[in-house]
Amino acid sequence: MMHTDILIVGCGVSGLYCALNLPKEKKIVVLTSREAQKSDSFLAQGGICVLPDEEDYPSFYEDTMRAGHYENNPDSVEIMIRSSREVIRSLEDFGVCFEKENGRFLYTREGAHSRPRILFHADETGKEITSHLLEAAKSRQNITLIENFTMVDLVCRGNSCSGIIGRDAGGSYQSILADYTVLATGGIGGLFRHSTNYRHLTGDALALALKYRIQLQNIDYIQIHPTTLYTNKEGRRFLISESVRGEGAVLLDAAGKRFVDELQPRDVVAKAIFEQMKKEGSEHVWLCLAPIAQEKIKSHFPHIYQHCLQEGYDITRQNIPVVPAQHYFMGGIAVDRCSKSSMERLYAVGETACNGVHGKNRLASNSLLESLVFAGRAARQIAAQYEKAENYSAPKVDAEHYAHCREEYGQLVLNAIEREKGSHEQH
Ligand code: SIN
Repeated sequence: MMHTDILIVGCGVSGLYCALNLPKEKKIVVLTSREAQKSDSFLAQGGICVLPDEEDYPSFYEDTMRAGHYENNPDSVEIMIRSSREVIRSLEDFGVCFEKENGRFLYTREGAHSRPRILFHADETGKEITSHLLEAAKSRQNITLIENFTMVDLVCRGNSCSGIIGRDAGGSYQSILADYTVLATGGIGGLFRHSTNYRHLTGDALALALKYRIQLQNIDYIQIHPTTLYTNKEGRRFLISESVRGEGAVLLDAAGKRFVDELQPRDVVAKAIFEQMKKEGSEHVWLCLAPIAQEKIKSHFPHIYQHCLQEGYDITRQNIPVVPAQHYFMGGIAVDRCSKSSMERLYAVGETACNGVHGKNRLASNSLLESLVFAGRAARQIAAQYEKAENYSAPKVDAEHYAHCREEYGQLVLNAIEREKGSHEQH
C-alpha cells in the first residue's frame, strides 16, 4: 500500500497539467496504464484554439456553441475561452513552441471556425505540448510517475474517494491511498472497432463511476471524425487532420466531384460522407490536397505526409481514400466548473470528464484547450481545499478483493451508452 497527497490517474495533457499546477510541497503520484507517451494527447494533430484578440470573443463563443448544437454549458464555454491566453502563456513557459512569423503567432483554421484561431506546431501539436509537460513533470521532485499500472477500482468510504486499487506490470494488486484523486483516463475509443484513439482507452473510469453511482453526463455524445486514412488493416485509425481541409483540401466522390462543404461542423461532414459512401456502395471517399501548395503540405503536415507515403500515397500528387472514425467523447463524468465530480475528493479532467463545454459535438481544436483550462482549475481548487482543512486520514484497504474487476468494464460502459441513447431517442 502506498499513500500520497494527490493521485492522478492518466498522464495526457490534463493529468500532467493538473500535477504541474498543484502545490510543489504536496506529494503527487501520476499513474498510467501504459508507457507515458501512449496517451491520445500525443496524437493530437491540428492544434489548440486561443482567443486571438478581444474582438473575436463573440465569434469564438458562437462557433463553439453552434458546433455543439447549443447544448453546451455557457459558463464552461466562457471560462474556457477567457482562460485561453493565460494557458498558452503558461505552455510557452514550459517551452512549448507554436508556429510564428516575425514573432507573431500563425493561426490555422478547421471546420466550423469562422476565422483562423488555432495555434499549431506543424501537424504534431499534441506531441509538442504533451512532451514538454511530461518533461517538466519528470523533473519535479514532488511528482512520481508510475507507468504500466492499471486502475481496477476506486477506494470509497461512503460518497468519498480515498484512492484506487491498481494492477502493476507484474500482475500484483496494490492500493494507492490519497487525500484527493483525479481521474484523467482519456476517452473510450478502444471500445470501437474504428477509432483514432489508442486501443487501451476503454472508459475504465466511466465503468467505475457507474459502479459507485458517480454522476455521468451526455455519455451517448460521441464524436466521429470525418477523415481518417482508409485501410483494411486492423488497429488504430490514422487521423488526417481537419486543418488539412482548413488549409484548402476538398472531399471528392468516386466521380471526382465535391459533395459537401468541407468546413461545416464535424458531425455534419461525417454524416455527408457516410451518405455518399452508402449512395456509391463504397468504403471511403477521397480527399484531394491539390489546392494546397506542395511546399506547404510538406512543412505544415510533415507527419501526415510521411505516414501516407509509407502507406503508398504521395499526398502532394495523389488523392487519398478517407473514411470517418470514432474520435472523441463529449460526455463523461459530470463535473462542476472546477472539475469536481459528484463524489467527495474525486475530480475528473480531460476527455474523461464532462463539464458541458462541448455540448453535443466538439468544435475542432477545443479539446487540448478545454483539458488544460479545467485541469488547472481542478489543481487550484484542490490547493485551496488543503488551505482550508489539513489532516485528512484515508481508510485502509485490503487489495485482495479486487483481482476480478477490470475485465467486464468495457461492456458495462457500452450498455450504459445504449441505455442513454434509448432515453434520448424517446424524448
Ligand atoms: C484534427 O486535427 O482534425 C483533430 C483535432 C481535434 O480533434 O480537434
